[in-house]
Amino acid sequence: MKTLKIGVLASGRGSNFQAIIDSIETGYIQARINVLITDNPEAFSVERAKKHGIEPLVMLPKNYSSRDEYFRDITAELKKRDVELVVLAGFMRIVGKPLLEAYPSSVMNIHPALLPSFPGLHGQKQANDYGVKISGCTVHFVDEGMDTGSIIIQAAVPVKDDDTEETLSERILKLEHKIFPEAIKIFSEGRIEMHGRKVRIKGPVVDESPLINPPLGK
Ligand code: GRF
Repeated sequence: MKTLKIGVLASGRGSNFQAIIDSIETGYIQARINVLITDNPEAFSVERAKKHGIEPLVMLPKNYSSRDEYFRDITAELKKRDVELVVLAGFMRIVGKPLLEAYPSSVMNIHPALLPSFPGLHGQKQANDYGVKISGCTVHFVDEGMDTGSIIIQAAVPVKDDDTEETLSERILKLEHKIFPEAIKIFSEGRIEMHGRKVRIKGPVVDESPLINPPLGK
């Protein structure tokens, strides 16, 4: 099978970036990360990239006069490096049209809630404050909306009565680290089929059993 060339965009600590690196290094995903692009020179993701021999590229939005111009340049850098799949791993910006047009159904994001509930910032806090009993995470393709693109994989966790934003985030993050690499693996194996906005996956997917919370009595 051929090696998928990935470009990662990240703004922060990069624990999802690390999970993807690890899945590639253990051979679970047949891929190569050709570049890490960040809008934040202080991002810990830069250290992770360096440690694993991935080229880090800092691109600052303030050096551009518009969002389109910024994303046109990002797209050019990705194309220069033959990137086939763009992965947003905690990239805190709305992606501009030039990138989406250059990579149709090939830009993935992870969101820490069960979309379409609680899009936007602080999905975990939104879910906890609302009082839902189940939340989770979603890997989806990126479109021009805010977390509105086609859903690839979701995984659920219980929300407990004494959860805080932090405890819920931690529980969700563990699953993020499983389903993000899984979605990339599925993409790399050419197992994604689009049916309108619906994604169908051919072949087996990691089993995240459905949850009922609170558990039903016998
Ligand atoms: C994660 O919670 C992810 O769902 C969201 O941003 C956070 C990034 O965390 N999109 P990390 O940088 O991958 O640790």
